[in-house]
Amino acid sequence: MSAGVHTLTVRVPSRPETAYEVRIGVGLLGGILAELRQGWVGSRLFVVSDGNVRRHGHLATLLGHEPAGTFVIDPPGEGSKTLRTVEAIVSHLERERYGRDTLLVALGGGVVGDVAGFAAAIFKRGIPCIQVPTTTVAQADSAIGGKVGVDSDLSKNAYGAFSHPLRVYIDVATLATLDERHYRAGLIESVKHALIADAGYFDYLDAHLDMILARDEAALLRLAERNVAIKGDVVFRDPEESNLRRVLNFGHTIGHAVESASGYALHHGEAVAIGIVGACLIAERLGLARVEVRLRVVALLRRLGVPVSLPPGVSDEQLLDLMTRDKKARGGTPRFVLLEAIGRVHCPGGQYAIAVPENMLLSALGDLR
Ligand SMILES: NC(=O)c1ccc[n+]([C@@H]2O[C@H](COP(=O)([O-])OP(=O)(O)OC[C@H]3O[C@@H](n4cnc5c(N)ncnc54)[C@H](O)[C@@H]3O)[C@@H](O)[C@H]2O)c1
Repeated sequence: MSAGVHTLTVRVPSRPETAYEVRIGVGLLGGILAELRQGWVGSRLFVVSDGNVRRHGHLATLLGHEPAGTFVIDPPGEGSKTLRTVEAIVSHLERERYGRDTLLVALGGGVVGDVAGFAAAIFKRGIPCIQVPTTTVAQADSAIGGKVGVDSDLSKNAYGAFSHPLRVYIDVATLATLDERHYRAGLIESVKHALIADAGYFDYLDAHLDMILARDEAALLRLAERNVAIKGDVVFRDPEESNLRRVLNFGHTIGHAVESASGYALHHGEAVAIGIVGACLIAERLGLARVEVRLRVVALLRRLGVPVSLPPGVSDEQLLDLMTRDKKARGGTPRFVLLEAIGRVHCPGGQYAIAVPENMLLSALGDLR
């Protein structure tokens, strides 16, 4: 594969401990299938992608002249993250007589990665999956960590599994075609990683935001490396989210509630941005973090062009109801990951998600309006 590829290793603490490589570079797409063919001689390659990724030419670049089966999810987007799509992929594989010697390659955003990863996890009790993420969400977050799954009619990620990829390829050049709103909203996952783990990374994002927004490849490579290192480390230390991994849900308690209450009019990252500001307000009220933390965060989010206050028409009652259904809630009480400082999560008694009194939560929601 071309020069300039940076390879990181993500460790998985299973027995025996395994690991997978994450290859990061510019213009990697065209060499991936040949490299897989060499590395896994005799495997049959099958690529899952979506209509937009194909329309922008990334599927053709990936396939080149390599023979491989394809399945294109259409329409693209969250509405296709369903068991019906998984069933269609599995039926296609069966019809074409794919077996356990199949290597499934997921080329696309978080939806393609989650759907294809889940199909791979269950097809004939599991075949390996290669993740090739093409959005800011997927490159920073969803392609790493082994969570795969699909939504039910009632809730997000109702069906799912922990199933780690065999390898991940991050080609930051693919981000050039992503629309501006998805691009910016997905950068929230990078801001989240900086806030929970690395003050120096936050400084970098702050100082280089203009380059990042201009999609400068050197800056995007730096982001990819920090994101993989941070998420890989958290996942290694708590692969199945018994405690530490919850830090990755920073901003998500209010964020998920707002996303759902907005009827998904807000992109996930936009809702999480509001949730991050809410978590900063709560930490301030609890005397855990200084006001300067929130002011710096809000200033960065404003420059990113994402919302920092609740949208009109979303009531406190609605948000409280949704938050008590959050996966981190215990006994109907919502729980929050909170910061003490940029790069440092509050962890009383070793717990990373803590209950917050309702009056304090309501007052924080009031300040989010
Ligand atoms: N598994 C995890 O750990 C994890 C973590 C975070 C998010 N997620 C999931 O990820 C999903 C959101 O991810 P997403 O924002 O990438 O959504 P997405 O896959 O729907 O992609 C967003 C849009 O961009 C298009 N697109 C993708 N790549 C493109 C490119 N290079 N150029 C132009 N258009 C492109 C897609 O077709 C889609 O319309 C949600 O379902 C969320 O639950 C999963």
